[in-house]
Amino acid sequence: MTDSERVLVAYGSKYGSTAEIARVIGDALRVAGLSVDVRAAGKVGSLDAYRAVVLGSAVYAGRWRRDALRLLRRPELGQLEVWLFSSGPVGEEKGDHAEVDRWTRPPKVSHLAEEIGAHEHVGFGGMVAEDAGFMRKRMARGMAPELRDLRDWPRIEAWARSIAAALGAESSTAS
Ligand SMILES: Cc1cc2nc3c(=O)[nH]c(=O)nc-3n(C[C@H](O)[C@H](O)[C@H](O)COP(=O)(O)O)c2cc1C
Repeated sequence: MTDSERVLVAYGSKYGSTAEIARVIGDALRVAGLSVDVRAAGKVGSLDAYRAVVLGSAVYAGRWRRDALRLLRRPELGQLEVWLFSSGPVGEEKGDHAEVDRWTRPPKVSHLAEEIGAHEHVGFGGMVAEDAGFMRKRMARGMAPELRDLRDWPRIEAWARSIAAALGAESSTAS
């Protein structure tokens, strides 16, 4: 594999749970035989070495983290294969599906995804712990413990394997 065939997995994360999703995606891509870098979106420099980018962000008040959005707006992404994920929802799903979707998979991100020809913009559950931040503590306390972490690891790994397969990785069916 030449350098220009590397895959970048980048993330915007305030408290680390989206960073963990990115690491799990990175590991699954490596298992499939790809060369992968996992980086915070704000720490990404040149994109020259990459063939594909998997970019995700935690969603706060219906928006992506600023560093992730900034990376998504870089014109170079239009030349690369791109997959996007949003991570956020915790607790019981309330309201109708379209409304929930708007708050968990920001329409602005879906719009930019379309503009650059990204393959997908998927939504994953998030995680809230009561270890920091007033809003976070309030949110976590009002929630059943089993609904505080809705990150579905088998689904996340399966998604990563589908990316590996789309990139033609040799062992993309490995589990
Ligand atoms: C103040 C606050 C606002 C939030 N707003 C949203 C939101 O609009 N949509 C959503 O899906 N999740 C929302 N969440 C949940 C977070 O996105 C979720 O906890 C996420 O996993 C955090 O990721 P991080 O640990 O990488 O920062 C919010 C959480 C907090 C504390």
